[in-house]
Amino acid sequence: MKLFDVYPVNNITITKAQGSYVWDENGVQYLDMYGGHAVISIGHTHPHWVKRIEDQLEKIAFYSNSINIPLQVELAEKLGKVSGKEDYQLFLCNSGAEANENALKLASFHNGKKKIVAFSKSFHGRTSLAVAATDNKNIVAPVNETDNIIFLPFNDEAALQECFEKNGKQISSVIVEGIQGVGGINIANDSFLKLIRTLCDKYNAVYIADSVQCGYGRSGQFFSHDYAGVNADVYTMAKGMGNGFPIGGILIAPHIKPKHGMLGTTFGGNHLACAAALAVLEVIEEENLISMAKQRGMYLINKLKSIDAIKNVRGKGLMIGFDVPEELKDLKKKLLFDHFIFTGEAKPNVIRLLPSLAITRKQVDEFLDALNDTIAAMKEEQKVEA
Ligand SMILES: Cc1ncc(COP(=O)(O)O)c(C=O)c1O
Repeated sequence: MKLFDVYPVNNITITKAQGSYVWDENGVQYLDMYGGHAVISIGHTHPHWVKRIEDQLEKIAFYSNSINIPLQVELAEKLGKVSGKEDYQLFLCNSGAEANENALKLASFHNGKKKIVAFSKSFHGRTSLAVAATDNKNIVAPVNETDNIIFLPFNDEAALQECFEKNGKQISSVIVEGIQGVGGINIANDSFLKLIRTLCDKYNAVYIADSVQCGYGRSGQFFSHDYAGVNADVYTMAKGMGNGFPIGGILIAPHIKPKHGMLGTTFGGNHLACAAALAVLEVIEEENLISMAKQRGMYLINKLKSIDAIKNVRGKGLMIGFDVPEELKDLKKKLLFDHFIFTGEAKPNVIRLLPSLAITRKQVDEFLDALNDTIAAMKEEQKVEA
């Protein structure tokens, strides 16, 4: 049997990882400024995370949600404390798409309505409703197409206002990333998020903060939506939550009431996943990683802004993007194959930086030096060619 070939891969085999570095099968060391797509929050193979998972593995790895799982309660308490959303409720699942799928469904159960407002350049995952609310026709299968999604331009307050005035009675939820990731690092304006809050209150709609990529401390706040000073009704989370151990979840505001059987999953909230997620929160707290992400991010953004060759540097915390001009279009490839640095991208011309929140200043400088060297070398090559 062969693999179903859906991923365009780099021909690199990673066999070891630690902190912000990974190593390939030949022992070549790479700096990871990509975090395996914003997943590595506390650093690869953090010793506390490894130990907590190993210890749990010796006890029990899995049992279904038909029994008491005290680790889930412990996780809910810790998450409430670290996120500052102590009065919220936690539902655990396994991935970002699943978190969004459950959030959209829950909203509809809650208010009995059907329409969902989503925005241009959004990415919410690949399950049925999540993909329908994603602004990319290429990944929406005919069976996922629905009239229930209304797409509006991101950050367009007038369009949002008008849409609610026209369809408010039918709108069940608004789903929005605080900082769009796959869309290319686009920050939602505070006033835009505040307007979503106001309109959701006025029309009894559910504000869903997709925090799968921009959440869990990555932005320098636990949720990037916190910058706007608003509380969403539902926060969806995954990526950084398990530092690579698959786990997702949704935080649900107290006014949304549960009912037995309303949501469910076999694997969600299993013992091993909870142990991994608890280890992540313990390290975030212990190593002060949210404020570290803010500091390192500010330093990195300021340094990037001083590089003339790259454009439109933007982001918050360690969720950063910049535009790469046409003459440097191979920059990402050169960083990887000449300087052994992983970065992320967003089509057509954005480089995305999503390193571990525990990246050190020295590692950030290592990246900046390599970036400056690569740009200088590319410019030199172009001069010679011309
Ligand atoms: C904002 C956002 N939401 C949802 C998802 C889907 O998460 P998953 O791939 O875990 O299903 C992603 C993944 O990139 C994402 O960036």
